[in-house]
Amino acid sequence: MTKRRWGTAATSLACALMLVAAVPASASDNSAGAGDPYFPLAGNQGYDVEHYDLALDFTPSSHYLAAQATISARAEKELARFDLDYSGPAIDRVTVDGRPAAFARDGQELTVTPDRSLRRGKHFTVRVWYRGNPQPIDDPTLGIYGWINTDDGAVALNEPDGARSWYPVNDDLNDKATYTYRITTPNGVTALANGEPQGKPDVRGDKTTAVWNMRKPMASYLSMVAIGKFDVTSGRIGRLPNITAVDPGSEGDTASLAPDTAAAVRWEQDTFGKYPFDSVGGIVDRLGVDYALETQSRPVYDGVPDAATVVHEIAHQWYGDAVTPKTWADIWLNEGFATYAEWLWDEQHGGPTVRSVFDGWYAKPAGDRFWKLKTADPGRDEIFSYSAIYLRGGMTLQALRVTMGDRDFFTLLRTWVDTYKYRNADTGDLRALAEKISHKNLKPLFDAWLYSEEKPARP
Ligand code: ARG
Ligand code: ZN
Repeated sequence: MTKRRWGTAATSLACALMLVAAVPASASDNSAGAGDPYFPLAGNQGYDVEHYDLALDFTPSSHYLAAQATISARAEKELARFDLDYSGPAIDRVTVDGRPAAFARDGQELTVTPDRSLRRGKHFTVRVWYRGNPQPIDDPTLGIYGWINTDDGAVALNEPDGARSWYPVNDDLNDKATYTYRITTPNGVTALANGEPQGKPDVRGDKTTAVWNMRKPMASYLSMVAIGKFDVTSGRIGRLPNITAVDPGSEGDTASLAPDTAAAVRWEQDTFGKYPFDSVGGIVDRLGVDYALETQSRPVYDGVPDAATVVHEIAHQWYGDAVTPKTWADIWLNEGFATYAEWLWDEQHGGPTVRSVFDGWYAKPAGDRFWKLKTADPGRDEIFSYSAIYLRGGMTLQALRVTMGDRDFFTLLRTWVDTYKYRNADTGDLRALAEKISHKNLKPLFDAWLYSEEKPARP
């Protein structure tokens, strides 16, 4: 999908300097890395992915994957070679437009050299054959993510940069693409992914292939497959398919996921505007990661979630998935909004008011650790900081609501999605839209709440 580039001359320069410091010498043309300040190697330059077609043949008993990834892209400049992000199992071969291409691996970069260079504007197809046992990423501060094997299968959860652990990818927040998954397993194993199933699973001999399509643009960190034993429920919320799948060994009220998802979608459509994708649902599996993830159209939960968690992950479908930050520094645009959605839901369903939740956290004294870190630039290791990103992100929205007034604030929530859905936006875009709607100068509020490590004045 077409990328909208970001950044002033100053940030581009800063990123260019970071890239010089961080990329391997072999990638001195800056083809490795799309310029994210926190993940400088993620993403690549010079082309734009339109579609991923991932054929995955997975055997749960051995956790062995034999895969073929077909990537349709467009060259944005003349390309003698190009990079993909990839740190998965061994590659057998690579073709570009059907002809064998040379390839080399260096860390998480896969460099492909086609037999002739690709002219600017050319649509081309890269196919990569690979097989082996994909491994999760175990990061000291971000935890376990990427390809995660389970007792009876596997689940892929990529946030922030785990897609490379199981397929070659342009892992750039700004390069959204559509996806097709063709997942082959032994008969009797269930395979799910983002989006909608294409017909019934196809049984051939002792193997079954399930095909899923995500037809709306998706950032790679939101791509997901789930393979294993699942009890699948297919319902509808109005006309929207609601496909949920629960590991039969899960503890708790396994029947709650489908109705909780339906209730969250209904309430959020009333509050945020039309649901942005063609189906919804959720997947519960025992992963041992202790977080849920808002994988596009179908979040994944590590255990049966409570209603508030479902409200949070479904809210991300608007805030995070439809409208995606331009860089990881702006992750508060995901987590602050999803946290605020939980507070609003609670307020309207017999819980405490948003104001009282805000006041409770605002009571933290100036100088407390709670106020440390900049909410809109917390640093790479702190992108999931509960206080700086989730809570202070939600509080920033409450400060904005009090300042703009209810009518303008709820207009902002809906207009934000209408304006930027299927694309990317940053904190500056939010301020510009909020100022346009409210006719107020919001720079002081944004600076105090997002770019300061001091306790802000009460709005
Ligand atoms: N975005 C998830 C949420 O809904 C959290 C993901 C945490 N990921 C991680 N690698 N620790 O809040
Ligand atoms: Zn979240």
